[in-house]
Amino acid sequence: MNISHGTIERNSILMSVLILVVVAIGGLVEIVPLFKIKSTIERVEGMRPYTPLELAGRQIYIREGCYNCHSQMIRSLRAEVDRYGHYSLAAESMYDHPFQWGSKRTGPDLARVGGKYSDEWHKLHLINPRDVVKESIMPGYPFLAERPLDTHMIANLMRTQSYVGVPYSKEQIAEALKDIEAQASPDADSEGLKARYQTVNVRDFDGNPRAITEMDALIAYLQMLGTLVKTDVYDLDPKMQ
Ligand code: HEC
Repeated sequence: MNISHGTIERNSILMSVLILVVVAIGGLVEIVPLFKIKSTIERVEGMRPYTPLELAGRQIYIREGCYNCHSQMIRSLRAEVDRYGHYSLAAESMYDHPFQWGSKRTGPDLARVGGKYSDEWHKLHLINPRDVVKESIMPGYPFLAERPLDTHMIANLMRTQSYVGVPYSKEQIAEALKDIEAQASPDADSEGLKARYQTVNVRDFDGNPRAITEMDALIAYLQMLGTLVKTDVYDLDPKMQ
């Protein structure tokens, strides 16, 4: 049988079948090797799961839809690395369920915003962005400073995260409430917290010692973003520096 190009082009069913075959080959070549490797994520030093306070802050970040305007993924492009710092490593979002890479940047990328500003700056900025960045179009979230952090779900949330692969230990889950208290109140005993999570910021993030608020949690989360991994070790490509 001699199938010429003309025959294929005039027979839509035959054409569709052949297109499917060709596309399937392309797909298989890309997908099959992924099943052969153990992990697509290179393990890096310094990564740890979120502390309960940071995890609670992350929930507020998701609840308020911050991801609609902010990405958390620095691409390996010169302009991005110059502006935001070292490009994001896969391992840096390995404990993010769901990940917060985002798809739109109305505001800047936040993957490495940790440590860029003071807690006080974040508090003022979140209450009314115009107070610190005159031309900002970001909405204010003044209620975060007023609302006490709701912690009744945190142990369950950690348990859920552990179902999808975040290695929270039984102890970390059992001590969640104590760890929240310890991280947000500098006077509390934070030895246990520091032993359970390697590097951790301990302070009164919102400057209000009377309560642990949603503001405390959100700032604790923002201040650790992108700070766990010492990225200078991973500068393999000198052009990107
Ligand atoms: C309508 C879009 C929008 C939403 C929603 C939004 N932001 Fe922003 N954000 C911006 C813009 C625009 C800027 C840049 C101007 C400024 O600094 O205020 C910004 C700046 C920031 C910065 C400073 C980043 C830097 O590197 O200078 C942080 C931190 C931040 N936003 C956090 C948040 C958090 C947390 C939320 C959710 C509670 C949020 N944003 C919600 C638009 C948004």
